[in-house]
Amino acid sequence: MVQQTPALDLIRLVNGYQISQAIHVAAALGIADHLADEERTSDDLAAATGSHPRTLYRLLRALATTGVFREGQDRRFALTPMGECLRSDAPVSVAPWANLIGRPFEWNAWAHLLHSVRTGENAFRHVHGTGNFDYLSRHPEEQAIFDRAMSAISRRLAPAVLAAYDFSPFRRVVDVGGGTGALLAKILEAHPLLRGVLFDQPHVVARARSVLEAASVINRCEVVGGSFFETVPEGGDAYVLKFILHDWDDAASTAILKACRRAMRVGARLLVLERLIDSPNEGADTKFADLNMLVEPGGLERTPAEFAALFAAAGFRLTRVVPTATPLNVIEGALADAA
Ligand SMILES: C[S@@+](CC[C@H](N)C(=O)[O-])C[C@H]1O[C@@H](n2cnc3c(N)ncnc32)[C@H](O)[C@@H]1O
Repeated sequence: MVQQTPALDLIRLVNGYQISQAIHVAAALGIADHLADEERTSDDLAAATGSHPRTLYRLLRALATTGVFREGQDRRFALTPMGECLRSDAPVSVAPWANLIGRPFEWNAWAHLLHSVRTGENAFRHVHGTGNFDYLSRHPEEQAIFDRAMSAISRRLAPAVLAAYDFSPFRRVVDVGGGTGALLAKILEAHPLLRGVLFDQPHVVARARSVLEAASVINRCEVVGGSFFETVPEGGDAYVLKFILHDWDDAASTAILKACRRAMRVGARLLVLERLIDSPNEGADTKFADLNMLVEPGGLERTPAEFAALFAAAGFRLTRVVPTATPLNVIEGALADAA
């Protein structure tokens, strides 16, 4: 008999997009929130989410085979431990990310990965005729979905960053490209004497107030809108860039770092929070994140040596790499000509 397992294993991988999009739809409908307190039938869930009953059943029974939901008798569905993570109020909610990745504007860019691989070009620009951040600025609903996804990731990763890296020597931290402030809020919450500056594009920081107020750090946080290709707020003793440089190629990343350098005084620290490319055959999350950077913003994930070269090109020296309990690392730099 012909051994079928490798082919079947491959087919499951090939069909992985079906699972991604199905989870996206469940997230977009808020199914997990409707299952938070009790099991419910798919008809009940269809009524609660304004969906087509028979078709929602087909979606949920398929997802129940992946371990996201559990199907019981009479078309009743319940959350599994994975499904709990799709609740919008889960401590580490994956719902905002699932909600983002299946949106047509993101999904369509991945349909053009072949173009990127043939040409080295950014698929998103090929499809939409403009860069990812420019597109978001013109589509406020998508921008809000994107910002919520970034904030959820920051809230998930912040405890590990705070456990691994000591922010207590600093008095003023500038979060460059800090989105709507989720990470900075966590840093300031953990360090009551610290002051913060949240810096991002004006239309993004315009929606940061509620995040900073909810964390009761608004009184210690300045909010500044601008472009990190021009100027970055001065006077910080730490400049955090989380998931910024991986959005950009080396030339643009060097320009961002140079703007930071111009704002920094001797003794200030650059804290680049990024994943690192692992050795061959390892680090799937980062290597696929790298493809996501190629396709969506047009950037790349880097090795430690590539970060060291980037730092040097912008007048920094890489002082140390501090791993966290997550794939995120704190890649620390200081001004190259400072002691
Ligand atoms: C991948 S997100 C990361 C956000 C945040 N640091 C985090 O980790 O959640 C990239 C951020 O860069 C910001 N950004 C893009 N272009 C910018 C520019 N020219 N100046 C300032 N911020 C910019 C975006 O608005 C977005 O918030």
